[in-house]
Amino acid sequence: MEKNTNIYPIFEQMLQRSDREQLLRQKSVMIWFTGLSGSGKSTLAIALERELYKRGFLTRILDGDNIRSGINNNLGFSEADRTENIRRIAEVSKLFVDCGIVTIAAFISPTRAIRQMAREIIGKDDFLEVYVSTPLEECEKRDVKGLYKKARKGEIRDFTGISAPFEAPLHPFLEIDTSCHSLEESVKILLEAIEAKIKFV
Ligand code: PPS
Repeated sequence: MEKNTNIYPIFEQMLQRSDREQLLRQKSVMIWFTGLSGSGKSTLAIALERELYKRGFLTRILDGDNIRSGINNNLGFSEADRTENIRRIAEVSKLFVDCGIVTIAAFISPTRAIRQMAREIIGKDDFLEVYVSTPLEECEKRDVKGLYKKARKGEIRDFTGISAPFEAPLHPFLEIDTSCHSLEESVKILLEAIEAKIKFV
């Protein structure tokens, strides 16, 4: 893809993120769920969002299947396409975070390099990586969408955990194994870790 050179972004005189955070009376962060298909990323994101909403926080979830039906509907699951998927998502997330919104992403984002790219785009201080470490055996047992069965039969190529890699984060902000914790417990753990970071003081 050709790089556009004659581009001059403007930032000066625009309202700042801090102005919007003050308006919303909250601090924005990026809560980035990573984990295998079926690990519970979306379920956790949705439950967390509901609890944050009850507490008066403005949030927005970006989720794999939803984003891949819209802005990223031209991308597949090769390494290059996953990288482009996450690059666009990170750029969009950065806009949300800059709006003062508590932004929640739920993507497999399978490699350390891909997540590092997202962290760099969004900014390392705003990027809270939550590793949903539910083991492959459990994800495969759940097989909510029937994708593992298809992947095992060879009907889906490059399926994460079966025929494509997943690299666990080395130092996540939080790790949650949904085969060991109930949804309520997991959300409690998340809230305890996150609330201090998004409270407006
Ligand atoms: S990635 O790796 O971050 O770009 O993937 P993501 O955008 O999160 O999309 C994952 C969802 O796509 C469906 N799906 C697959 N996942 C993994 N590998 C392959 N080959 C694949 N094909 C389709 C699947 O429903 C994933 O959703 P989740 O919610 O993770 O189960």
